[in-house]
Amino acid sequence: MKTKIAIIGLGYVGLPLAHAFSEKYEVVGFDINTSRIDELNNAYDRTLELDETQMKEAIQRGMKFTNNLELISDCNIYIVTVPTPIDGSNRPDLTPLIKSSESIGKVLKKDDIVIYESTVYPGVTEEVCVPVLEKTSGLKFNQDFFAGYSPERINPGDKEHTVTKILKVTAGSTPEIAKRVDALYASIITAGTHLASSIKVAEASKVIENTQRDVNIALVNELALIFDTMGIDTNDVIEAAATKWNFIKLTPGLVGGHCIGVDPYYLTFKAEELGYKPNLILGARQINNGMGKYIAEKTIKTMISKDKRIKDANILILGVTFKEDCPDMRNTKVVDVIEELKIYGCNVDVYDPWVDPEEEKHHYSHGIIANPMESNKKYDAIVVAVAHKQFIALTQDDYKKLSTDTPIIIDIKGIVEKPTWRL
Ligand SMILES: NC(=O)c1ccc[n+]([C@@H]2O[C@H](COP(=O)([O-])OP(=O)(O)OC[C@H]3O[C@@H](n4cnc5c(N)ncnc54)[C@H](O)[C@@H]3O)[C@@H](O)[C@H]2O)c1
Repeated sequence: MKTKIAIIGLGYVGLPLAHAFSEKYEVVGFDINTSRIDELNNAYDRTLELDETQMKEAIQRGMKFTNNLELISDCNIYIVTVPTPIDGSNRPDLTPLIKSSESIGKVLKKDDIVIYESTVYPGVTEEVCVPVLEKTSGLKFNQDFFAGYSPERINPGDKEHTVTKILKVTAGSTPEIAKRVDALYASIITAGTHLASSIKVAEASKVIENTQRDVNIALVNELALIFDTMGIDTNDVIEAAATKWNFIKLTPGLVGGHCIGVDPYYLTFKAEELGYKPNLILGARQINNGMGKYIAEKTIKTMISKDKRIKDANILILGVTFKEDCPDMRNTKVVDVIEELKIYGCNVDVYDPWVDPEEEKHHYSHGIIANPMESNKKYDAIVVAVAHKQFIALTQDDYKKLSTDTPIIIDIKGIVEKPTWRL
């Protein structure tokens, strides 16, 4: 039978995946966000993962974008790439996974395979999603329909490690389905695939990738806090330590985004539900979550040491996205710095050439100013928060032009030649 694929959820993960599959298969992209569908049908991807040419090529070879379930009812492979956020109490919010499974259940047929790609804790696919599919479709799991899991590993904004160039872990609900899921991905992933022994193993493998990174960054952040009290430059320490072959070279910083700062909570939630308290992972989360406040306090202390008045001081924040050279603001921790500085009574201007001001207003409403280099406003301190290429290019003269007198530069990313303080 001819393979026809529906990709459910066309965000940072779903769209590039749909594009990659469309080179070999008939693909329909489904999303509940109608404005996203309209934009995609007009060959515009606001996440900037695909450019206009890639979008037009995919549309030309037949890729469709829709919010109409009817149009995915004749697919036989359903791949789910919806968000897996946390709620205000850091607990997994499985609503998008449940809702999208309900939608698929309505069109599910005999012998279809539903593959989940969203990052979850081990057990979500078979214990949460599959029962929803069974209930909505009236079909029986592993008799009438099957499931797979293949975690996504893309890195937003990274034009080198694109979806087909990253080895993909795969798994299926029976040995035969596992082989079929693996073969499906192997047909487009040039980097190859790794068939995991079960869906739970594949789910766990993804969540620990991000947990490991989170814990390692927390260690470096903790070291930065210690070295700061000692007056030692952490970046210099890391450069020296990294001369040993087995040193893991990471730099301190804000841990934002919807992956590294979120996924560990999926694992800790499940661990705690099973009676195990994951102290190391939660401790790491706490350290990383506290970095924004620390940086704001450091900015204030540095300004006081330079005889700056704090109340009503003008502070410029360069960059608000959670990482460099991409427009992704999800769970950005730069907002922690901004909010803490506002508590001290400072006036904070935020500039980010990658961010759509309307989108920022919608999510955080701090407001994005026009390029400050083109205005005459002067700042009492500048916080360099994101290593966008536009900020790497700034010179000492640029900082001078932006400053009231001798520039006070707080460099979170280690990209300023002569910062007043760097993390
Ligand atoms: N972005 C990354 O770098 C990355 C990397 C690896 C894994 N992941 C994981 O992949 C998953 C998706 O992440 P993303 O960054 O693409 O999210 P995203 O927010 O960019 O996109 C998700 C899309 O799903 C749509 N959606 C939500 N509910 C839906 C529903 N019920 N039916 C259909 N569509 C629905 C949204 O409208 C949105 O367009 C998450 O679990 C994430 O943790 C993301």
